[in-house]
Amino acid sequence: MQQLIRGEMLHFLSDPGDPAPGAVAAGYQHFNDGGMLIADGRILLCGPWNDVAKAAAAGTSCIDHSGCLILPGFVDTHIHYPQTDVIASPGHGLLDWLERYTFPAERQFIDQDWGIEVAEFFCDELLRNGTTTALVFGTVHPQSVEAFFSVAQRRRLRMVAGKTMMDRNCPDYLRDTAKSSYDDSKRLIDTWHGVGRLGYAITPRFAITSSDAQLEAAGALAREYPALPVHTHVAESPAEVAWVKDLFPWSRSYLDVYDRHGLLRPRSVLAHCLYLDDVDRRRMAASGAAAAFCPTSNLFLGSGLFDLRQALDAGVRVSIGTDVGAGTSFSMLRTLACAYQVAHLKDYVLSPLRSFYLGTLAGAAVLGIDDVIGNFLPGKEADFIVLDPCATPLLGRRMAVAQTLEERLFIWLTLGDDRAVKHTYVMGVAQSVRR
Ligand code: GUN
Ligand code: ZN
Repeated sequence: MQQLIRGEMLHFLSDPGDPAPGAVAAGYQHFNDGGMLIADGRILLCGPWNDVAKAAAAGTSCIDHSGCLILPGFVDTHIHYPQTDVIASPGHGLLDWLERYTFPAERQFIDQDWGIEVAEFFCDELLRNGTTTALVFGTVHPQSVEAFFSVAQRRRLRMVAGKTMMDRNCPDYLRDTAKSSYDDSKRLIDTWHGVGRLGYAITPRFAITSSDAQLEAAGALAREYPALPVHTHVAESPAEVAWVKDLFPWSRSYLDVYDRHGLLRPRSVLAHCLYLDDVDRRRMAASGAAAAFCPTSNLFLGSGLFDLRQALDAGVRVSIGTDVGAGTSFSMLRTLACAYQVAHLKDYVLSPLRSFYLGTLAGAAVLGIDDVIGNFLPGKEADFIVLDPCATPLLGRRMAVAQTLEERLFIWLTLGDDRAVKHTYVMGVAQSVRR
């Protein structure tokens, strides 16, 4: 059965970049009066309303979102579902925060029923905020991933997740071994990867909590399963970087630890990347690994400021992560607003078009799933959101005097949050979520 959607539409075909002043940005399609034709959860056609309506079978019903902007669902490329209940816990930097709140909270995920309860809330929260795909950390417990995938599968969500590998420098109750982490990861891959819309990510927590033997095991998985993302943290705080230097005296840099273990390649997603040097950035670019920029987390933990300009200039792939629970919001709009501010402090003005590109297609691309999600090309899965220009009195008032698409996008990300996301569609179906 076909379904028509009508409304203003925007989606990206490539990075709109930083067009010269006065030049028109490329890399996107925008239809003031747009249409999307969907069948079996996939997009058949997206374009000007008249063309799309003509292509529809006679009698096809239409949902009219005129007056709102329809965008691809957001792709959050770094988030921890077991940290949902840790959000807004103040600490003295990353390592203190991990010990004080995060590790004790993760301990509870030995109980799969607890994992299911949290995963249900977490998925509701993502959808309320317009995030339809996320790259998700579980805990060390394989059952935390079983719980998350079972919830995502029932909801038909496209989600990527993995069991955290961690065999040292953490409480005993969160410790696996190089062998058990390899075996458990492999079993989860065999059970879940490619089931429905689910994908598995090889997930060593960070260099501090993995021995060389465990990083070697992660590297072996990365070689055995080249299509799978690798998901980890790198160079987030000065104290963490100093500890890594002690633990791996042979390494040139923190990034080099992962490189020597074969963990840098396309579909590797490294959260933070604050303390990289030029050699590291060149290596990131050459390897195809991506930096997940997590601005609210970096400010909350006092970690530092990501240098977006340097990363982009070096050709590093960049995407956006909320990093809940160190991040302070599930909202990609709030996170993009913060990204703009952090970039500004590093002397780079992030354009609104590029912001929305980073929050949608770029995220899909770094995960290697831009063939199925990320924009509205024919054949893509119909995961999209409907943004309301009048979600709050202030938003409505400011929108009323906006002149251009770019201006409206900037207002949405500066003033918007979950309230601006009027509807979230998954595979062409509007989701009912708590408001
Ligand atoms: N580094 C290692 N583990 C974590 C985590 O859970 N959160 C953040 N922000 N950084 C980490
Ligand atoms: Zn994180």
